This record gives sequence, structure tokens and C-alpha cells, in this order.
Amino acid sequence: MNTENLVNQHYGFGQIMQRITSGLTNAGKDLENLSVDDLAPIDAFHTRGRHATLELAELANIQPTDLVLDVGCGLGGAARHLAETYNCNVNGIDLTHEYIQVGIELTRLVNLGDRVHLQQASALDLPFDDDSFDVVWTEHVQMNIADKHNFYAEIVRVLKPGGRFLFHDIFRGTAPDEPVYPAPWAEDQSISHLAIEDHAQSIFQFVGLDIHHWISKVDQSLEFFKNTAARIAAEGPPPIGIHLLMGDNASAKIQNYVQNLSNARTTVSMGLAHKPSA
Ligand SMILES: C[S@@+](CC[C@H](N)C(=O)[O-])C[C@H]1O[C@@H](n2cnc3c(N)ncnc32)[C@H](O)[C@@H]1O
Repeated sequence: MNTENLVNQHYGFGQIMQRITSGLTNAGKDLENLSVDDLAPIDAFHTRGRHATLELAELANIQPTDLVLDVGCGLGGAARHLAETYNCNVNGIDLTHEYIQVGIELTRLVNLGDRVHLQQASALDLPFDDDSFDVVWTEHVQMNIADKHNFYAEIVRVLKPGGRFLFHDIFRGTAPDEPVYPAPWAEDQSISHLAIEDHAQSIFQFVGLDIHHWISKVDQSLEFFKNTAARIAAEGPPPIGIHLLMGDNASAKIQNYVQNLSNARTTVSMGLAHKPSA
């Protein structure tokens, strides 16, 4: 099976809409009157969830006239948040067929179908013309992609000259030991393609992205996990959260992720780069 099929199988393991609707019901939400914020615990499948999305959006300085693309949008959480908060139009693509199906349904439930357009596609072959987007956004996707050069080159291709690229990603840390698995993005090394940050930065430069901010989020992430663990110890697991997207071994995946971050086997950073103006 090729990597893209393995990724689709890893994330799209079935029954995701059912898991989300029963989680929302258990959390006391009215499915007929859902808000974008009600979905935040489940549709921000990245480190520090909605907190991280808010920080990245601050760097992005999004305007209502901006056309935004979320590459590897997952369930479309960031796309809905950006469309609602900044009144802009957002496209999202993701490889995982089930995520796109569920994402379209969640978008319909919060009445954002006119401004958020999700479709199944590969980040390595974006179904858009050159120079189409003011902003390209990606959170926690490239760690599943071996061909980083093609990934970033596609992003540059679809960005308008002067456009902004926002990223929030997991990288390989400096520790010599390999990261431990299962991790949230991979059961084992077969679909895990972590680059060290220096290497990623050199690819940015090679494909023509000017880096403006590159910010380590390791300390905040460890703090976030410490606080989350304390809350779960006191109150039990929440009825709705990204653990519902990680299958039966969700707690092992999260523990391994925290261990990898603590031991510098992985890192997490976010930032902003620009495609130079023509
Ligand atoms: C950890 S999830 C993050 C989803 C979303 N960005 C978020 O933050 O909620 C990783 C996502 O990357 C997507 N992905 C991995 N490889 C991809 C590829 N080659 N093209 C498009 N999406 C990909 C997966 O399908 C999955 O939805």
C-alpha cells in the first residue's frame, strides 16, 4: 500500500461522525444549534488545539478579502474558525476521505457552507491554479509527507506573489534516539516523516519562501499537556476531544507524544513565511 493510502487508513478509520455526534450529545450540545466554538475540542487535531490556531491567526493578519487555503485541513476546524472570525473565504483540502465527508457535514451544521469549501485532494498535487491564494495555512500535516520539497513547492505555486504561508508543525528534535510510536500521526515509522528544523528551513529557502517568524512552541506545548493531564486526573476524560480521533490506543499515542517532546526527540514550531512579490 502506498503512503497516501496508509495515511487515509490511519486517520479515516470509520464511524467518525458517529463518535463526534455522541461526544457532542454527551457534552450537552444541541446538534441542531451548534456553534463553531462547540466543535473546537474535536476539530483542531494538533498540539494545543484552538489555542494554537488563535496564535497562528494572529501572525496571519487575515482580512475579509483574503482567499485562504488550509492544506491538510482535517475536519476543517481552522477553516471554519477563520471564515467565521475574519469573514473570509476558505478552501481546505485533505487526503483523508472520511475527514472531508465529516468536515462538509460539520460545516453545514454551523451554516458556513457558503464560505468554507472542503475537498479531498493530495497536498502534493493541489487542485488549484498558480497564484490563487492570499494565505496558505497548514497545521500538523508535513510530518506525514516524505517529499517535503514537493509539499512546500506546491504551496509556493498556489500562493499569490506577496502571499503569506502560515505553518504549525512537528519536527525531528536533536536527541539521537528515534521518537517512540504509536504517535498521534502514525502507528509506527511507516508514515512518519519528521524533518529537522534546519532542513525544513533550507527547503523553504530553496522553494522561494522568505521566513519572517519561526517560533518554538515546545515549552507551551509541554505546559498545555501538563495542565490537561491534571484536569483529566481531577475530572476524568472530557466527553469530546481529539482522543476520539486516535482510536483505541489514544492514550498511548498522547503519552508517547509528550515523552518525545520532553526528550527532544520531536519539536513543535509555528511561523510565517512570504512568497516574494513579483
Ligand atoms: C494531525 S491531522 C491535522 C489535521 C488538521 N490540519 C488539524 O490541525 O486539525 C493530519 C492531517 O494531514 C492529512 N494529510 C497527511 N498527508 C496528506 C497529504 N499528502 N495530502 C493532504 N493531506 C494529508 C491527514 O489526512 C490528516 O487529516
